[in-house]
Amino acid sequence: MLGIPSRERLIVALDVPSVADAERMIERLGNSVCFYKIGYQLAFAGGLVLAEQLARAGTRVFLDLKLHDISNTVANGVASVARIGATFLTVHAYPQTMRAAVKARTSGLRILAVTVLTSYNDDDLAEAGYSGRVTELVARRADQAIEIGADGIVCSAAEVAVLRARVGAAATLVTPGIRPVGAATGDQKRIFIPGDAIAAGADYLVVGRPILEASDPRRVADAIVDEIDKAA
Ligand code: C5P
Repeated sequence: MLGIPSRERLIVALDVPSVADAERMIERLGNSVCFYKIGYQLAFAGGLVLAEQLARAGTRVFLDLKLHDISNTVANGVASVARIGATFLTVHAYPQTMRAAVKARTSGLRILAVTVLTSYNDDDLAEAGYSGRVTELVARRADQAIEIGADGIVCSAAEVAVLRARVGAAATLVTPGIRPVGAATGDQKRIFIPGDAIAAGADYLVVGRPILEASDPRRVADAIVDEIDKAA
């Protein structure tokens, strides 16, 4: 996407058990990283207070809370997240949920829709009572997300090119499952190297373990930013 500095396109997933661990990692990364994702693990261990402190200090925060509830509850939750100062918030891509979140969003907070969790295959959808295929449901929900006014979508790099063509240039596409060449894949099955994900049309890359578990996290983060820069 034009206009976003390469360094701001790297989002580091703070998948660590405590605020102290997160603070140590943030300190090690220094000004190499300016955007952090906080998910269930850290959010439920004091991470929301950290999110507010980071946002106040000018660091961008992605709260990966994947909200889904009745509209009134979603709207009130989104209003609270907006007060924390987060930049991105995820919600599941159900129309009622997305409408409530979009309506309650205030300036500065962008709503990202999670179409179908990447751990789901066609059999898992059938088990959950859906008759269609994952690819069909991803496309349908992506269309609905944009129609309803969500700001973007979280998707795997494998889906980026197709979704970009579908949702247009203005929608924000955020992509996890990124591995620099040579990094351990862990439990991610379909991985992309940073440059390829950017070339396919991703706006932001979410990277966790390749940075968190590195002996020199800052060097890995800088290398990813370089690769983003070259592919942009
Ligand atoms: O450690 P790793 O780089 O695999 O971390 C990826 C991050 O992105 C994790 O926080 C994970 O929960 C998140 N994520 C993902 N796949 C999705 C959505 C989110 O890996 N489809």
